Amino acid sequence: MSKLKLAILISGRGSNMQSILEAAKDEAYPLKPELVLSNRPEAAGLSVAGMFGVQSRIVNHKDFGSDRLKFEKTVDAVLKAHNIDMIALAGFMRILTPWFVGEWAGRLVNIHPSLLPKYPGLNTHQRAIDARDVEAGCSVHWVTEGVDEGQVIAQSSVTISAQETAQSLADKILPLEHDLYPLALAKAANELMQRDGAQN
Ligand code: GRF
Repeated sequence: MSKLKLAILISGRGSNMQSILEAAKDEAYPLKPELVLSNRPEAAGLSVAGMFGVQSRIVNHKDFGSDRLKFEKTVDAVLKAHNIDMIALAGFMRILTPWFVGEWAGRLVNIHPSLLPKYPGLNTHQRAIDARDVEAGCSVHWVTEGVDEGQVIAQSSVTISAQETAQSLADKILPLEHDLYPLALAKAANELMQRDGAQN
């Protein structure tokens, strides 16, 4: 079976990246992790990638000042040099421009810690508590121009308890993210392969 070449973009801890790398050890997984790319040199996830034998690259956004496009063109060139088929954003804390999103349309997936379309952006856990929601969760979605607005691929949810804090809720949702992301990504990869196959 031919696998799609996957790049995982991170900015920090990389626990979602790790769950994908674990899942990809399975022969039947449709994606081969080719590259981990971080915009932060100090991202802890970089050494985890090394432990899995996956090569990593740093493209430090600070080297580009406010020139977001130049940063993205550099990232894009690295991805294309590695013949990447699909990108998973996993705690990648840069908002992407329409140019980059257009360049990778239909190949770019993100995980977000809310039940989209609720709470795009930051502070999702606190916002769910403040709204007195009964449940919260996480979503894996295709990335489009609007932040956290693309079509949802899969979601998981938990109940918000009476004493919930943003931290306790984040701690409850993170393991769901780790289960959901590899599965949703595989689903997205299969969709992409069917789409590509249909075009040939
Ligand atoms: C996760 O909660 C993810 O949903 C959000 O950022 C966090 C990243 O955590 N986008 P990690 O780096 O994967 O551990």
